[in-house]
Amino acid sequence: MTASETYQNPFIPEPVRIVHQRDLIKDHRFFQIRHIDMQRAMSFQYMPGQFIMLSLPGVGEAPFCIASTPSRPGILELGIRKVGKVTEALYQKVDNDVIFMRGPYGNCFKIDQMKHKDIVMVAGGLGVMPLRSILYYVLDNRDDFDRFFFLYGARSPDMMLFKEEFLQLAKRRDIECLYAVEKVGDEKDWAHHTGMVTALFKDLPELDPLKTNAVICGPPVMYKFVIQELLKLKIPKNQIQMTLERRMKCGIGKCGHCVLENLYTCIDGPVFTYWDTLHFRELI
Ligand code: FES
Repeated sequence: MTASETYQNPFIPEPVRIVHQRDLIKDHRFFQIRHIDMQRAMSFQYMPGQFIMLSLPGVGEAPFCIASTPSRPGILELGIRKVGKVTEALYQKVDNDVIFMRGPYGNCFKIDQMKHKDIVMVAGGLGVMPLRSILYYVLDNRDDFDRFFFLYGARSPDMMLFKEEFLQLAKRRDIECLYAVEKVGDEKDWAHHTGMVTALFKDLPELDPLKTNAVICGPPVMYKFVIQELLKLKIPKNQIQMTLERRMKCGIGKCGHCVLENLYTCIDGPVFTYWDTLHFRELI
């Protein structure tokens, strides 16, 4: 399925209910939302990599990547960092409050090109949010993909988003989870790597570059170093995908806020390949 096939009505905000929220770390909160209309909730279609716009009447609107997988319909999950007036107002909401949503928007990860290939997924900090969508998509369709490596780096164990969830995930046999923190801090029983996320590449087994796809999301500074590692592995440039969300306002190619060179991040992205970034150098 392509992103355009998930198109419903991109202009009209729909009411959704907050069904659950909890803090992940300071100023980062997990939200589960659901369309009020149950039929709509179950039929809402999107693909990993896409984003939605949430709005609060009288406050404003902001874009958020989707952190849940379409293979588990009914509920949408979001990880939201408190920054700006929309998120501050969102943090004041309680379970069962109604807010508004439109979307989904943007393109999605090239999942078809990843099928029956190995996947190296590299996340840094908050960048794990959009990758969580494709992470569970791959796990829910596990037979469609070959080996699956999930590399996640955070500043410290207590800055790791979804820490308990990901530590449990590491026990599965159908995914190889490699975690790194820059500083262990007070967590003396940290059993994973200490250092940068790029240091985890040495723990990967031998990969056939033509049979490998990489997916990246993290802070801007991370891309350069992660891409260097992927290029050392000789993974083709068009098999390195990254999601870059920035400066989005309308989400539908009207406001011009997200334009970089002649690309609209909200329509042409937010998922780009490393090959794309070589042609549009402002992207990263
Ligand atoms: S967010 Fe308005 S044009 Fe892309």
